[in-house]
Amino acid sequence: MTDLLAVRDLSVFYGARAQAVERVSFTVAPRAVVALLGANGAGKSSIMKALAGLIPARGEILFEGAPVGALTTRQRVARGIVYVPEGRAIVGSLTVRENLVLGGYQATAVQRRERMAMVLDLFPEIAPRVDGAAWKLSGGEQQMLAIGRGLMAGPKLLLLDEPSLGLAPLLVRRVFDRLAGIRRDGELAIVLVEQNLQMTMRLADGVHFLRSGRLVGHRHRDDLQTRAARQEVIDAYLGAAGQHAA
Ligand SMILES: Nc1ncnc2c1ncn2[C@@H]1O[C@H](COP(=O)(O)OP(=O)(O)OP(=O)(O)O)[C@@H](O)[C@H]1O
Ligand SMILES: [Mg+2]
Repeated sequence: MTDLLAVRDLSVFYGARAQAVERVSFTVAPRAVVALLGANGAGKSSIMKALAGLIPARGEILFEGAPVGALTTRQRVARGIVYVPEGRAIVGSLTVRENLVLGGYQATAVQRRERMAMVLDLFPEIAPRVDGAAWKLSGGEQQMLAIGRGLMAGPKLLLLDEPSLGLAPLLVRRVFDRLAGIRRDGELAIVLVEQNLQMTMRLADGVHFLRSGRLVGHRHRDDLQTRAARQEVIDAYLGAAGQHAA
């Protein structure tokens, strides 16, 4: 089976000297959810932005077997690689509907209508607010909108950067439950960036641990089912940053 995504020796530099990501390699199988876990500054967002084509990177990125590293962000979106940035980045002054339409800017009118219905069905919290200003949504609802906007592009691979950031535990659970639903129903694969191991384990098939720009370990979800196993990887790879193991 061909991997949906194969990343080989990906490196990201900010300026001549600052290397944020160092020769990172991993693969994502079709429909898989692969998580990247690491402390603040470990290089998680840099990997995601490099995959999305938002920042330059060295190394090889193969998507559906074809190199995409030289493509623009827009071209990668057209192929099905869609980034949902951390901090939501919705346009507050636009309505919820307008934000969603923005996400589907490369789609046909028919696709946009279908996907809009799918997103509002998935996140019924925002459905009644669709013609209201996006800034009026709660933090959790804004996160739903941000994910919904990503889905409007019809992604094959969703790059989700800290969907739980700044959300109350109850809302985090809700967002992750919806993501688990999307995953069950569709063809979608996800690269998930998180700091919270417990939440990550609700969704991910496998977890890569990132420290100072390098992948330092990997665990399959089956190897992280017990509290002791989770504590072991936290001690080994994450230190104080990933202390929420329970
Ligand atoms: N635009 C930039 N210019 C210079 N350095 C940057 C830039 N963006 C990130 N860095 C640096 O690159 C490293 C990795 O940052 P990155 O944002 O990828 O980390 P992260 O794992 O996503 O962290 P967080 O959990 O805080 O979001 C950090 O040392 C950061 O300071
Ligand atoms: Mg980040």
